[in-house]
Amino acid sequence: MTTYRENPAAVRALVQADRVHRDLYFDAELFALEQQHFFANTWNYAGHESQIPEPGDWLTTDIAGRPLIVVRHDDGSVRAMMNRCAHKGSRLVSAPCGNTGKFFRCPYHAWAFKTDGSLLAIPLKKAYEGTGMGDCESGKGLTTIPNLRSYRGFIFVKINDVGPGFEDYFGDSLGSIDNMADRSPEGELEIAGGCLRFMHQCNWKMFVENLNDTMHPMVVHESSAGTAKRMWAGKPADAVKPMAIEQFVPFTSDYQFFDDMGVRTYDNGHSFTGVNFSIHSKYKAIPAYDDAMKARYGEERTARILGMARHNTVYYPNLTIKGAIQSIRVVKPIAVDRTLIESWTFRLKGAPPELLQRTTMYNRLINSPFSVVGHDDLHAYRGVQAGLHASGNEWVSLHRNYDPAELAGGEITTGGTSELPMRNQYRSWARYMTETM
Ligand code: FES
Ligand SMILES: [Fe+2]
Repeated sequence: MTTYRENPAAVRALVQADRVHRDLYFDAELFALEQQHFFANTWNYAGHESQIPEPGDWLTTDIAGRPLIVVRHDDGSVRAMMNRCAHKGSRLVSAPCGNTGKFFRCPYHAWAFKTDGSLLAIPLKKAYEGTGMGDCESGKGLTTIPNLRSYRGFIFVKINDVGPGFEDYFGDSLGSIDNMADRSPEGELEIAGGCLRFMHQCNWKMFVENLNDTMHPMVVHESSAGTAKRMWAGKPADAVKPMAIEQFVPFTSDYQFFDDMGVRTYDNGHSFTGVNFSIHSKYKAIPAYDDAMKARYGEERTARILGMARHNTVYYPNLTIKGAIQSIRVVKPIAVDRTLIESWTFRLKGAPPELLQRTTMYNRLINSPFSVVGHDDLHAYRGVQAGLHASGNEWVSLHRNYDPAELAGGEITTGGTSELPMRNQYRSWARYMTETM
């Protein structure tokens, strides 16, 4: 058995040009190292600005195994800090979100901190005079996260001060976020419709990989989407197609469809499927929405925005978005074989209510813990998580369409059924994982 701690060469050896070692999915030591290094060295999605519109509004999340608070400071800026009191380490807040007013007050001994993390007050302060408290970490208040960037309302943080800045890390992949926001006649998004939480009994990487795996839908979703297709077959041509049928059926498209859809990869593990069209391209037009878009952007730009119907964009490692349907899935690794997936939906500001209705229906049908499509995928992940324990082959094949030229990186556009996006993710994983080891 290999020990990976303080052994970056052994970690790098897990990722070959065209395959990866099974330990990536079930080695508990690697999982702990990922939390410590990989997630702390990469830019991760922490929340959306529309969740904390007013000063004092906060939300909590966990990134890289660290409990975080993201809060709207009194000057309107967004701040992030460790959810850890500077005194004896208590969490300051424990709910998913709330409003704290002008300061956080620790529930244990009532130390108080401003919403920029600075220490505001301590009960019986005199007792600290002549002690070293004021000059050590505790006297400086909460540990803040300086690497924070909000992009069109999407808040990203990077815990460690290493690696590329925000723009270099995401590069042109940010076009998918732009497209989702541009789909609002006001150019702005707002979280709406609640959050659906779905626990997956698999390693987080299986879920992220699968978002750009287009060789599985026609196999795995045959039972769910295939049933919907058969139910609709034979209906008269003028029958009004229910929204659910419209959303289910494209999952059964053939290999040629998904290959023609195309995939594009970027440095640092990001990618999206649906360069040319996607399973979202043929949704019925909503005339009042089209009118609102044209009034804002004009005919030509509206056609460009709505014509870009990307499938899944992976913002590696913890955010995946579907701009065309205004939903996102946030990846929260819990254990080496447990991953919480949070699905959120957005209202396009200035759009008619049918848009949010379409979005929330999609989220319930496809992404939720009671989705038949989501369970198809979960069944596949659980199968891999169990099957990889077999002996005789310790490697996972990612050879499909491998081309040594891709090792040079940069933006690459190719057929949608290539396994390039996964190879691209793992090269990035090896890099960021070992950057601080
Ligand atoms: S742990 Fe917070 S005030 Fe003591
Ligand atoms: Fe799937």
